[in-house]
Amino acid sequence: MRYWLVMPAAGSGQRFGGDLPKQYQLLAGRAIIEWALAPFLADARCAGLCVALAADDARFAQLPATSDPRLRTVHGGAQRADSVAAALAGCGAGAEDWVLVHDAARPCLASEELERLLAAASQGGEGALLALPLADTLKRSGEDDRVQRTEPRERLWRALTPQMFRAGRLLEALELARAAGQVPTDEAQAVEAMGGAPLLVAGSALNIKVTTPADLALAEAILRMRGGG
Ligand code: CTP
Ligand code: MG
Repeated sequence: MRYWLVMPAAGSGQRFGGDLPKQYQLLAGRAIIEWALAPFLADARCAGLCVALAADDARFAQLPATSDPRLRTVHGGAQRADSVAAALAGCGAGAEDWVLVHDAARPCLASEELERLLAAASQGGEGALLALPLADTLKRSGEDDRVQRTEPRERLWRALTPQMFRAGRLLEALELARAAGQVPTDEAQAVEAMGGAPLLVAGSALNIKVTTPADLALAEAILRMRGGG
């Protein structure tokens, strides 16, 4: 199987804070985005990679990994979905080719998870995404933060990345969402809006997204545990 990799990396990391966008924070000696790209750069099935960067990004080109000839960059947009659409249009994949979308802020993707996703999607269907069944009890609150009720958690999942779709279908889904004024927060949501039913593939709880500085310490511990730092 051959696939293309699209990586949205044009965010500014508001919740992380500080001047350095979180994807460039150092983690066990490398930038977070280098860890996020590493499994795909190391995979011969990955035919091309396209990273969406902020228009004023001067950091990406300085990274050692950017010498790989399969790597391209484009300017991202105001929303994550805009950045994904731009990178998808620029990645070089044909309409029927598989594209994986992976957050620049997810440095701990394990190779077993990637293999499970590739195997599941190649069975056919509407694409697939890594996800985790909810483990905690869910509470809904009022505006006063007092519990209104406990929500059933059966069949509820947290969506992770990578998410995997045919390039043409995903681009169409993102364009339809944009035209309708919707802002999907992941690729699956855009495909769902077109009537698609992507397959949920069990991911790992260690495939965290770095959102706040506390996540950085957690990601470092995960990578060191694997001997990657
Ligand atoms: N992203 C992007 N373009 C945007 C917004 C986000 O490419 N306009 C990317 C981020 O760089 C990140 C991924 O989408 O790799 C997931 O988004 P998130 O974790 O929300 O990152 P930020 O938007 O940078 O963080 P925050 O929401 O805290 O500002
Ligand atoms: Mg964001």
